[in-house]
Parts: sequence; structure tokens; C-alpha cells
Amino acid sequence: MENKNITIGLFGFGCVGQGLYDVLNHSQGLKANIEKICVKDRNKKRKIADEFFTFDKEEILQRNGLNVIVELIDNADEAFAIVKQAMNNGVSVVTANKKMLAENFSELYHLQVKNNVALIYEGSAGGSIPIIRNLEEYYDNELLSSIKGILNGTCNYILTRMELENKDYLDVLKDAQLNGFAESDPWLDVAAFDTKFKALLLTVHAFGIVLNPDDIFNTGIQNISYDDILYAKQRGLRIKMLAVSHKVGDKFRVYAIPHFVDRNSELYNVSYEYNAVEVEGAYSCKQTFVGKGAGSHPTGSAVLSDISALTYDYKYGYKKLKKLINGSGNIEPGKAQIEYDFPIKLYIRFQDGEQLNDLEIISVEEEFKSAGTNYIIANVNFNSLFNIYNKRENKLFICAI
Ligand SMILES: NC(=O)c1ccc[n+]([C@@H]2O[C@H](COP(=O)([O-])OP(=O)(O)OC[C@H]3O[C@@H](n4cnc5c(N)ncnc54)[C@H](OP(=O)(O)O)[C@@H]3O)[C@@H](O)[C@H]2O)c1
Repeated sequence: MENKNITIGLFGFGCVGQGLYDVLNHSQGLKANIEKICVKDRNKKRKIADEFFTFDKEEILQRNGLNVIVELIDNADEAFAIVKQAMNNGVSVVTANKKMLAENFSELYHLQVKNNVALIYEGSAGGSIPIIRNLEEYYDNELLSSIKGILNGTCNYILTRMELENKDYLDVLKDAQLNGFAESDPWLDVAAFDTKFKALLLTVHAFGIVLNPDDIFNTGIQNISYDDILYAKQRGLRIKMLAVSHKVGDKFRVYAIPHFVDRNSELYNVSYEYNAVEVEGAYSCKQTFVGKGAGSHPTGSAVLSDISALTYDYKYGYKKLKKLINGSGNIEPGKAQIEYDFPIKLYIRFQDGEQLNDLEIISVEEEFKSAGTNYIIANVNFNSLFNIYNKRENKLFICAI
């Protein structure tokens, strides 16, 4: 098949947008060029000529002759409006915006079908790791049983530095913010919303199940202390922020929770901003993909790969998802396939015993109290974790065992 020449309208020229610009300029053989770039801040100094830029989104959205809109802005609601309008205009879209995708997945799927356009988003999960297209194409007929991964570079960077430098959370977070490894408001990353959005997307492509973000429990490293790192270290373990989506019997369990991992796990040595995804299938067995999970050039290269795929008219086939589309063409809500009522073994550090009252504790295996720190190892009804879901005032640190 002859590859098409692609003209691009780009939204966003920040970390990823500039990364894309660089990798596109160095790519050989890809027939693609950026016609116009829409950004927001009129006072910002740009590293390329002013004539490339516009501040009016309609100048790109209504421009004739563009084959693809590449959406790389940092606001999920504004991104959704742009992507929706582009698709309704019959233009294919590449994005890396996991929050926008996760919050609007069903509608975005239907927009693809209605307008017969592609929406592809390899950069939205795992940064440079080619996981989504692999799940779609390579594993399309494999009976996958589990996807597990380190999918947030900020959390992994903080956890790695806390362990290697014997430092507390807030010190490392502050440093990570200064070095560009954490946002000024790090909540979406450290409280594992970002990891959960990626878990949602991988669950669509691995199992064909579409969930709403609120169907998936997440808790992150927002309340971690060096005591937790030390607890792990003394037992030869490391704490990793994991997304988990796996099949147990005929149901699925999907969540984003920090986990203790031991030396035998491929995830143990995945450090700093690196990400990893472990895919397990009935016949392929376990395979692990490792790579840079964020950053300008790594994410830019994933976006470039999507643009290249569009030159040969690539679209996700959603082969697994299509099995769950009912007679009227709607996606069956995936929540019915998710199991919530099961015991999960957790390490829970707390300050005051009352903080545990919201959890349905089935049994306690170990309890430690001191002037400095308190923790329990307990089996907890997973469903009861939703009682502490998304509460910034909650100060428990929870880690799955
Ligand atoms: N950073 C990463 O490593 C990474 C990795 C994977 C996925 N992503 C995703 O990629 C996307 C972009 O992230 P980023 O890190 O590149 O963000 P960023 O560095 O904050 O840059 C955001 C860009 O979007 C522009 N922008 C914001 N609102 C806009 C609007 N309404 N219209 C037009 N332009 C607008 C900004 O314009 P100004 O330049 O004028 O401020 C800026 O150029 C996000 O969805 C993010 O989740 C990022």
C-alpha cells in the first residue's frame, strides 16, 4: 500500500508537542508536515517562527486540506471539544490525553463509527511503550488474563528516589517539581488518577470492557512516608504504583493501588521515570514491555508512530470491544463484568485507629503500633475501599501485598 502524505494541524506546543516537532523533523521517510499549531499563551516565547502559530482553534478546525488533528493540550475538557469537532468534521485525530479519553470513552468510540474516522492514542498509556496497538493487533486472538503495570512516571520517580536516597515524600516531591518530573498540582499523578485512566484504556484494548473512571478504585502514594519504604526495604521488597486489570473466574478486577513487589518480579528494577507493562495470556504466557513512560521525545515518538499509522489508514479495530456491542449499536456498560466483593490483603499505615472505621476489615494478620508509626496487615473487603475514594482528607497509606 502506498503511504499517503499527511498534513497536520497541531494543538499544544508544550512538552509533548515540542517533542513531536523534534522527532518529526528527524524522521526519515514519513511524509508528514505540520501546517499550523494552536496554543494558548500569547506572551510565551516560542522556539519556532511565529507564522506557525495561532490562538484561534477554528483556524485549524475549519482549515481545508488537513488530514489529521494532533491534540496535545493539557486540559481534558477543552481537548474533548477540539477532538469532537475534528471528528465530526471528518478528520482523524491523534491524542495522548488519557484523562479526556477515559472520561469520554463511549462517546469517542461512537464518534469514530459515526464519522468513519480514526482516533488513535498510543502516547496516552506507557509513554513510549507500544502497548495499545500491540493489544489490538498482536494479542487480538490471545486469551489474555492479566495486564499489570507501572504507568505513572511521576510516582515511580518519587518512589525510586525515596528508596535510594532515604528521603521522605515531601522532600522528593518538591525536588521532582523543580526538575520537571511532577506537576505543580501533582494530585492526578500521586493519587493515581492518571494510573487509573491508563488502566481504563488498557482494559478496553485487552478485554473489550469499557468502564467509567469512577468504576475503578484508585489510591496512590499521596500519603506515603519513609516508614513505608523502610518497611519494604527491610523485607527485600519495593513499593510500586501499579495498575491492575485481571480476570479471576468469569469476572475482572481492575484497580490502581501501590503494591509491594519482590526481586522476582520484572517490575522490581523498573526505576525513576521508566514504565513497564506486564501482559499475561493463556498461550503467550507472561511478557513485559519496559520503556520511558513520559517525557518530550519518548511521548513524541509514540505520537509520531500514530501519525505514521494514519499514512496507511490505520484505525483501531476494537475487536474485543465489538463482541460487547448490543443490537442497537451501544456499548454494554462494563461495570457488570467487574468484581468488587472480594478480600484484598493490604498493608495499611494509619495515625489514629478511627481512620480504619470506613474499611470492612475481614481479618488482621499483623498489627504494629508505636509512638512513630502504626500499621496493620489485613484482609479487607475491596468494595469498602470506595468509602475512602478520592477523599483528600483521608490520610491512610495503602499498599497491596
Ligand atoms: N508530558 C508527558 O510526558 C506526557 C506523557 C504522556 C501523555 N501526556 C499528555 O499529553 C498532553 C500534553 O501534555 P504536555 O506535558 O505536553 O503539556 P504542557 O507541557 O503543559 O503543554 C500544554 C500545551 O497545550 C497548550 N494549550 C493549553 N490549553 C490550550 C487550548 N485551549 N488551546 C490550545 N492550546 C492549549 C499550551 O499552550 P501554551 O504553550 O500557550 O501555554 C501548551 O502548549 C496531556 O494530555 C498529557 O496528559 C503527556
